Amino acid sequence: KTPDAHVPRDPRLIRLTGVHPFNVEAPLSALFNEGFLTSAELFYVRNHGAVPKVKDEEIPDWEFSVEGLVRKPLTLTLRQLIAEYEQITCPITLVCAGNRRKEQNQVRKSKGFSWGPAGVSTALFTGVAMSELIKRARPKKKARYVCMEGADKLPNGFYGTSVKLNWVMDPNKGMMLSYKMNGEMLRPDHGKPLRAVIPGQIGGRSVKWLKKLIVTAAPSDNWYHIYDNRVLPTMVSPDESANDPKWWMDDRYAIYDLSTNSAIAYPAHEEQACLVGGPEKYRAKGYAYGGGGRRVTRVELSLDKGRTWRLANIDYPEDRYRDAEQILYGGRLDMSWRESCFCWCQWSLDFRVSELADAKDIVVRAMDESMNIQPKEMYWSVLGMMNNPWFRVTISKEG
Ligand code: MTE
Repeated sequence: KTPDAHVPRDPRLIRLTGVHPFNVEAPLSALFNEGFLTSAELFYVRNHGAVPKVKDEEIPDWEFSVEGLVRKPLTLTLRQLIAEYEQITCPITLVCAGNRRKEQNQVRKSKGFSWGPAGVSTALFTGVAMSELIKRARPKKKARYVCMEGADKLPNGFYGTSVKLNWVMDPNKGMMLSYKMNGEMLRPDHGKPLRAVIPGQIGGRSVKWLKKLIVTAAPSDNWYHIYDNRVLPTMVSPDESANDPKWWMDDRYAIYDLSTNSAIAYPAHEEQACLVGGPEKYRAKGYAYGGGGRRVTRVELSLDKGRTWRLANIDYPEDRYRDAEQILYGGRLDMSWRESCFCWCQWSLDFRVSELADAKDIVVRAMDESMNIQPKEMYWSVLGMMNNPWFRVTISKEG
């Protein structure tokens, strides 16, 4: 019996770290078939330890605080957060920094477990803009960062991290405290009853089971902020890095904005029959996302290892929400104020079956509005994070 025996889970999820802690992704095709929004059942999970136990009747009384370099420290319950602050609902894609790490581990073992390309999911998050709480607490002059701390007690203390205060106060960064996902109260694995949602940045900043916001002059000194979620220089090997804190203490290597990334859901690696019989055309499909609120502006595919490229069609379902002032799941959905793009997009491109049959593989790359393009080569690093070279699927000739 694991410490998480109380948590309901979907058997379709693929376990990446054995029985405990719970770290899972859906099969890529199942995730993609869900469409723009991912159900709570198939939403990826990244837990460092046991899920805190919170009974339903305890949810309204969940207490959290805003403290540190503020003139007016706050302690409030979830009930008060809902009653006293404006509620907003926004579609947001979360991505684990380890998404696609498996490819890094195949080249050289990193210090992380092997995520496939489904460490990414999208939901409508309902809650309160983090800036509203910070404003009410009135930060002091020296305040520069907002640290967050969760309720999960881990071998190295509570899980925690930080973001910059001026990001929190920027409405285009969309940072929020959320208690609902797709209209339902958060499930235990996703932070029940309250979490931070930090759009456009690596999932590791979106602290679950949130207990504290601490306004500080320096970045978080939490163990998980320092020894996790970093891309160290590529020459740092697992042994060296484990021993030398100088690499970890260097804040330049901390990662925040996601890197531009994409993957092919169809054809799948294991899909063999697509070229045998069937229709003349095959529609390749997949997802792409940019970091820091930047929009993906092109997705290109190649059948000849990058010598020539074709432009895919991009669909941004997020835009259909952006233009619609509608009431959704009890929260207000109004994204008209927001310039940024915080969700994945879906791309597709038709090929003739005969040309696919002649090719060895199919690769995809995405570019964002700042012309950040996925690299051809992998940048290996000791935690295997932010892996985003061209995504490649081998075309099988056996049907
Ligand atoms: N918050 C707490 N308290 N404990 C955790 O282990 N994991 C982080 C983040 N917040 C974590 C956490 C990481 S690394 C990721 S990628 C996201 O939560 C995953 O969120 P999800 O499980 O809801 O998909």
